Amino acid sequence: MFKCPQIYYGTGSLDRVAGLKGDQVLVVTDKIIKQLGLLQEVEKRLQQKGAQVKVFDEVEPDPKDSTAAKCAELAAEFKPDLIIGLGGGSSMDVAKAAFFQYKRPDVKLCDMSALETYGLKSKASLVEIPTTSGTGSEASVGCVITDSESGRKLSLACFELVPDVAILDPSLAFKMPPKLRATTGLDVLVHAVEAYIANLHNYFADTVAIKAIQTVFQYLEKSVKTGDEEAMERMHYAATLAGIAMTNSGLGIAHGIGHSVGALLHVPHGAAVGFVLPYAIEFCADTSKERYLEILKALGVSGATTDNATKKLSDMARDLMVRIQITPTLKGIGVSEDKFRKAIPELTEFSENDVTSITSPRNATTQDFKKIFEYMLKNKPIDF
Ligand SMILES: [Fe+2]
Repeated sequence: MFKCPQIYYGTGSLDRVAGLKGDQVLVVTDKIIKQLGLLQEVEKRLQQKGAQVKVFDEVEPDPKDSTAAKCAELAAEFKPDLIIGLGGGSSMDVAKAAFFQYKRPDVKLCDMSALETYGLKSKASLVEIPTTSGTGSEASVGCVITDSESGRKLSLACFELVPDVAILDPSLAFKMPPKLRATTGLDVLVHAVEAYIANLHNYFADTVAIKAIQTVFQYLEKSVKTGDEEAMERMHYAATLAGIAMTNSGLGIAHGIGHSVGALLHVPHGAAVGFVLPYAIEFCADTSKERYLEILKALGVSGATTDNATKKLSDMARDLMVRIQITPTLKGIGVSEDKFRKAIPELTEFSENDVTSITSPRNATTQDFKKIFEYMLKNKPIDF
């Protein structure tokens, strides 16, 4: 099985909103999207088709389960037959979580299982419209919601959360500031590399992962530094390709650790997983060097062999971070060594319990995680 939403793409594809099925539409978004006038663009197109529209615009960065519950309450009252997530990963993820709870208020979000069928699509359909280029949530099986009690980021997954439709209008993402283009673009790279080496990798997902990786190396720096529209458009599509890849292959410890660093030390997701990626590549050297060599060949890197592939790829990831002005060190992502050292026990616990760590090609033990964190403190490549 290969899961993928129906995709409309290209400048002007937002007009497809007027052709979506649904008479009662709940739009899930945040205040910034409203200020930018993007919400109004969607509302206008929904009104054209005569739909009743309700807006939930209370999504915050790193959204909590309480926000998703509030949105689900509004859905229960309004009874939509279409739920649209409009915004970055946070809005799209809250739309997914509310979509889940709207149909299944009897199941706690934290009890969602990737192996279960919940009948979610019988009550409403789910459409996602990204305004950033990174999360891949518009095409993915998952959503990340913060548990209010523990502060832990819950990586929730269920195949019915793959949206029915994703609308990729790159012009919606042109308003992203350079820093956001940099961090979200790094997230694309990490999704695609982790999906390519994940232990569920497969022929179909490989194809889209490789295209996403090529696009990042070709266009991310240009997108960040110049705001070139073609570069930003390519990155917008690469984000979705990488989302499709991770949905069908899985992720790995760059996300397991990245979620923990994000939750405990408040680092933006893309910067957190980007920082971890080179270490994750090195940690998986023995299981994945042949796969790294395939990536390097697809990127046209000369002189690559299985012996030097790990170092070359991790160096390329670090170098790309430098070129987009994110120094690949703890300091560079805004974390003090002292805080990081103190957080190691909790970071270890969160990382090994993160569902994304499961599909890592090399299983990381508790000791491995602790050792990886020590190496990060010393800014030292993984050699064990
Ligand atoms: Fe991610």
